[in-house]
Amino acid sequence: MSEPIIEGAFDIIEFRRALGAFVTGVTVVTTIQSDGSPRGFTANSFSSVSLDPPMILVCIAKTASSHAVFSQTDHFAVSILAEDQKGVSGVFASKSPDKFAQVAWRARATGAPVIDGAAATFDCRTHEVVDAGDHVILLGRVVDFVHTNSSPLAYCRGAYVNFSLSQEALAVTGARARVGAILEHRDGLVLLETRNGLELPTGVKLEPQSDTASLRGVLAKLGLAAHLDFIFAVFESGNGPSASVQVYYRGRVSSSGAAWMDSAIHIVPLSQISWSELRDEAVRLMLQRYVRERSEDAFGIYVGDTEAGKIQTLSITH
Ligand SMILES: Cc1cc2nc3c(=O)[nH]c(=O)nc-3n(C[C@H](O)[C@H](O)[C@H](O)COP(=O)(O)O)c2cc1C
Repeated sequence: MSEPIIEGAFDIIEFRRALGAFVTGVTVVTTIQSDGSPRGFTANSFSSVSLDPPMILVCIAKTASSHAVFSQTDHFAVSILAEDQKGVSGVFASKSPDKFAQVAWRARATGAPVIDGAAATFDCRTHEVVDAGDHVILLGRVVDFVHTNSSPLAYCRGAYVNFSLSQEALAVTGARARVGAILEHRDGLVLLETRNGLELPTGVKLEPQSDTASLRGVLAKLGLAAHLDFIFAVFESGNGPSASVQVYYRGRVSSSGAAWMDSAIHIVPLSQISWSELRDEAVRLMLQRYVRERSEDAFGIYVGDTEAGKIQTLSITH
């Protein structure tokens, strides 16, 4: 059960979290500025608008450094990223001065650049620029488009979603497996204190809850009511007979059902994880990627730790 959000004073952080429940694709919006150099930013605010005439829209924050360029340009392109292009999303969500040196791209009919390998691209003339609060809406009249069979990259609740991972996870049935969860609670991550340092909750399979060796069983034993949203990572670790396939879900603790009992549970703010205590290197690398992706936030504001330096241990709440 999800916690209902209390009405009253408008809480912008909660508003952003609520918006994050809408699963989107990830695009890179590009143009050529007046000095002839390319300019671009990552956007998930893309939407189709009209089929006839063909129109799309994307929103750019007034705080973006390329806001003035996109508000004035008479053309722009949108590249819908493929699922292997998280890195491209990261480059264009950054303030790097040479974003286009880091990716392969080509110019389309209007002159606007598009990203090679994208799932689809739309080349547009600017139809209208609409002022909308702290963003402007760029309405584009599509003059040309290309699409491929590549699976698109998705984005939900501040992290990327890779839909093909569920196929990979299904393919590993039979192999020795560890199934784990990257669980967020408030602004922190659930980590368990063990004799081997900090670990994520894991089991030998996902279900059933009645099996204490399964992930659901482990979570139940810890007193953690959790929603598992998507598979975040599937990878092999170890060699020879100790080799196993690890499948990690990402999800959230639903506090409403909480009767937490276990002092081994730590809620660690994403920015405060002591990496040296995560001994499993593959898991550490995966979590570092998770934290990096969560901090490349869609609206440029990192909804991270508000209580710097504090590791909260869950106490019994009745
Ligand atoms: C997945 C994702 C989606 C984003 N969506 C938008 C968006 O729709 N509009 C926007 O203005 N910024 C968005 N951003 C943030 C910008 O990409 C980021 O602020 C970037 O630095 C802007 O580039 P600029 O400063 O060079 O203009 C998004 C970032 C990520 C990671």
